[in-house]
Order: sequence, then C-alpha cells, then structure tokens
Amino acid sequence: MEYFSALEGNVLRWSQANPSLPIYILHPDQRPVTPLTVAYLYESKSLKHAMDACRVIKDEHEIQLIQRANRISGAAHRSILANLRHFKNEAQIAGLFIDVCLSLRSKGTAYQTIAGSGSNGATLHYTRNNEPLAGRQMVVLDAGAEWSCYASDVTRSFPIPSSVIGGEDWPSREAEQIYAIVQRMQEECISRVKEGALFFSIHQRAHAIALEELLKLGILRIPRGSTKADLIKAEVTALFFPHGLGHHLGLEVHDVSPDSGTIPVELAIEREKGLMSVTEHRPPCTLSAPPLASGMVITVEPGLYFNRLAIDQARAERDEPNSKGRFVNFDVVERYVDVGGVRIEDDVLVTKDGNRNLTDAPKGKEMLDLIYGR
Ligand code: GLY
Repeated sequence: MEYFSALEGNVLRWSQANPSLPIYILHPDQRPVTPLTVAYLYESKSLKHAMDACRVIKDEHEIQLIQRANRISGAAHRSILANLRHFKNEAQIAGLFIDVCLSLRSKGTAYQTIAGSGSNGATLHYTRNNEPLAGRQMVVLDAGAEWSCYASDVTRSFPIPSSVIGGEDWPSREAEQIYAIVQRMQEECISRVKEGALFFSIHQRAHAIALEELLKLGILRIPRGSTKADLIKAEVTALFFPHGLGHHLGLEVHDVSPDSGTIPVELAIEREKGLMSVTEHRPPCTLSAPPLASGMVITVEPGLYFNRLAIDQARAERDEPNSKGRFVNFDVVERYVDVGGVRIEDDVLVTKDGNRNLTDAPKGKEMLDLIYGR
C-alpha cells in the first residue's frame, strides 16, 4: 500500500522512465506540482468509467474481505444483543460495537454508527447515539465494520428488553407486526437477487409487500371511488419506506456503480401503466441501472418508519388530490408511532444462479433468543 504523499514522486519517476507514454490521472489534485517531461497528461473521465466497471464486480479476494468485515460486524451485533438487558443508553450500544470491531483487529467502522431508539429509529441518518433507552420499544442499529479497506453495512432492529412486559418477546403487538412485515420484505427481495435481475423491480416488490401488509393492518386505506392503482401512483408506501432497497458495497459503503443503460422494456411498460412507484434512489435502485451481474455485492435493506414530521406533513396535505395522506388512516398510524422504525439490512453477493448472503448478524428468532438469554 502506498500513501497519497508518495504519488508525486512515483508519477515523476514513471514519466522519466516512460517519456512517450501518456499518464492518466483521475482527479485534478493528482496532477503533480513539478512540471512533467512527458508528452501527454490526461485527466481522464473515461478511465474512471473503466475503473468503476472493474470495481463493481468483486473478485474472490475482495469477496473474502467483505465477508471478513461482515464476520466482525456479526460478532459485534451478537455481543450487543447478549448484553442489551444491561444497557441504559444508546451510547452503550454504539460503544460496544466499536469495542468489538477494534478487539477483532478491524481498524474501525465503515461508516458512522446509527443506534437510534424509539422515535430516533425513524430518523434515517440519526447519529447522536446518546439518548436513554428507558420507555422506548425498539432500537435500529445500523453498524458495520471495515476490514482491509472493505466495508460491511449491517442493520438490525430489536426490542429493548426493559420495555417488554409479562414474558412476551415484543414490547407491543405493533412492533411485532412491523418487524414481521419488514422481515417478509427482506426475505422475498433477497430470494429474487440473481444475475440478470433488475434491482429496481425487486425494490418495487418490497413496496408491493408494504402496500399489501399496511392495507391489512388498516394503516393504509382505499377511499371510495379509488383503486389500489391510485395508491401506487401516489407512492403512498414511500411515506413509510422512503429510501432505496439497497446500494453497491465494496471499498466504499456506497460503492461505485456501472454506467447506466437504457430503461428496460418491462420497466418502461410498468411505468407507463402506472403500476409502480417511479422515484429513483442510489444505484442499482434506478430505472436505468443495468441488470445485476455475478460478482456484484449489494445491500438489501427494506425498512418501515413512523416519522412524526413526515406523518404530520402527510396529514396536513390529506385533502389535496393525489396526496399520500388521502390513503392513510391517521388514527391507526398513531398506534404505531412508538415503534419508531424497523430496518433489516444484509450484504448480498450476486451469483449466476442466485445469491450468497455475506451477513451473519442474528435476526428473527435467533436475535430474540440472544436478547432474552435462551
Ligand atoms: N448504512 C449506512 C448507509 O447506507 O448510509
């Protein structure tokens, strides 16, 4: 490994040894200060495209590094679940995560940890991580270790044991219901990840499940004279699931993506018919992202959130035609606000026939058993 400060000397030496060959640099601040003797110096955008195309497909060594980062994250998440009953503040959760990462010789976390309890779980990039757990139902813990410059990106959502009464696993029926929906969203979406699949279609599947399940709970409603298609057109599920289903993962937590292509026919038809929400997110969660290819590593991270600001804004706009609020039963929503948020996120390697889940942090029953020491 070389430090950036060595670049200047390396470029000069290389240009002296190869005076007729061009030098490509990716960024203006890589241009050497000392005037070069070489004939050509390109600040090449096309080189960046080529590098991104290489970076987006991970080789076996890179996959092992991401897997190793995930093993460390898994150990840290496991340790937090096993100790949760002793914790009183979000800071202890974030602190133990770093402790385990460093103890297992990771240089640290791949991004700022999010340890949000109660309503903080509904703030997507909450990072204060300093509030008491008392009186709150759930924690959203989005925390991933880095290994040898490669990232892992892992989210788990779990009940706070002190909020659970009478030998139950969940602090409320509402928390259990929302966890079960997000779990279904994630399981069905992961099962669709394979070479050739369109990630934007998988993202649509997550929204379709959210729509079906939130209608069942009575959180969403179809007013007289409307149809399900009207709810899809208004993108009402985005009120509760406002981010993309996932992103590329590698050297960066939001890793580079391949160049966009044209919008595939099947997505264009669905869009034309108004059969899907069209809001795009980070690649590959865009209409024109190329199909998934073997060797890509992506996150699959559906979530449902009850964000007070978003809910109040939707309520204020509910009488406007085509507003999201028109399709929301706000009295029912109020019962769910204390759940905060639920997100479940794994890192998934795309393969020819399907996928390999690189994340081993406990979720579902295994997660509950650890929390309650069973
Ligand atoms: N999980 C961190 C992020 O995607 O921003």
